[in-house]
Amino acid sequence: MRFLVLGQGGREHAIVRALKYSSSVTEIHACPGSDGISRDAICHQVDLTDAKAVESFVKRHQFDCVIVGPEKYLVQGISDLLRSLGVNVVGPSQAASQLEGSKIFAKEFMVGAGVPTAAYEVVSDVAGTLRAAQKFTPPYVLKADGLADGKGVFICPTLPELKTAAENLFEKKTLGMAGQSAVLEQALHGFELSFLVLTNGHQAERLPLAQDHKRLKEGDEGPNTGGMGVVGPVKVDSLLEQRIEKEIIEPCLRHLQGTGLLYRGVLYIGIMVTPEGPKVLEFNTRFGDPEAQVILPQLEGDWGYVFSKLGNGELVPLKWKSVHVACVVLASPGYPSEPKKGVVIEGDLGTQTSSSYFLFAGVGKSDQGQWVTNGGRVLNSIGLGSDLKEAVQAAYSQAKSVKWQGLQMRQDIGKNQL
Ligand code: AMP
Ligand code: GLY
Repeated sequence: MRFLVLGQGGREHAIVRALKYSSSVTEIHACPGSDGISRDAICHQVDLTDAKAVESFVKRHQFDCVIVGPEKYLVQGISDLLRSLGVNVVGPSQAASQLEGSKIFAKEFMVGAGVPTAAYEVVSDVAGTLRAAQKFTPPYVLKADGLADGKGVFICPTLPELKTAAENLFEKKTLGMAGQSAVLEQALHGFELSFLVLTNGHQAERLPLAQDHKRLKEGDEGPNTGGMGVVGPVKVDSLLEQRIEKEIIEPCLRHLQGTGLLYRGVLYIGIMVTPEGPKVLEFNTRFGDPEAQVILPQLEGDWGYVFSKLGNGELVPLKWKSVHVACVVLASPGYPSEPKKGVVIEGDLGTQTSSSYFLFAGVGKSDQGQWVTNGGRVLNSIGLGSDLKEAVQAAYSQAKSVKWQGLQMRQDIGKNQL
């Protein structure tokens, strides 16, 4: 089968690699891909917002299946466009992608499904935000309604900080249209879990649990990032798992079916496990990045087959290897606020062992043909092992084979699980 992967980061490289090791897959293409991904896939530069260009591209290549990586393309409606052209797609419809594309839509969905979540109010100006804040206890959690590349959630310890965040969104319009309205919600306390399923909109197949490390610095300090590392599978109490199934997954699926939204893809449910039980924080309508990097290598089977069936609305029962995977993110100087591009990477990116390798997240080639940083998260160092300790060690020892000026990397990925 011929596959096309849309996107250009570490998650997409992980999908490309999973396809490379699938015997059902004969050709792998990516759009736009990257200089790094081009080592494993044929990369194409096609404007995905240009319906005519997309049509002639897919007609020319006759892909058997297209996998959509980033939320941005889903919210733009790429799945619907491709389906209208008769292409098999792994990715929810534009309407269903509103679960990620609009925080207000997501909260309304959670209420409709009857799943536990933080109490909230929709707000769209500063005075209204401060009025609504009277109903909640600090810290105040303000979330821009629209997509904001992970920069749309503000956790404000005090009212003056909430006022500043609301002014930035509604008056200075720092996030543009994405911040035209927002959700103000009660802060939840506990620990977070990323619960991912493959779903066709009425049934679901669970993916192994993964734990992301969102803060830049060791000990969960410093600013929030897209994710600095992840380990899996994570074991949690079986009673908690049962509660998540019963109180969250099943009602969400029933409600999804009731709404009639077309969903064929990954549903990522961000959960806060509070003293009262698990509560939904957010939905993502795609694989997490870097969660995908540790989930995909655990399948006992052929991802090409699983994805091509899912695109047709069929779920294949999934079996998992008894392997542990760790992903350590190597980031550029200045990440997350101002990642520096063009910093020369020293070392061999092709280095790999039987239990470790690099995935290319934000790697480019300079005019002189050198590998350089080309984004915030540059490389994902992946380690595999028969237990978590072995996997983490493999990832860190792989990471040592490269360096660059100002490289940022957390040293404690997986530590709280060891
Ligand atoms: P979201 O995109 O809605 O998941 O928010 C991003 C991050 O903000 C989450 O992963 C949490 O760490 C934090 N967060 C979001 N909502 C809440 C909340 N109600 N209480 C505490 N932390 C939250
Ligand atoms: N790692 C978090 C995300 O992909 O949204």
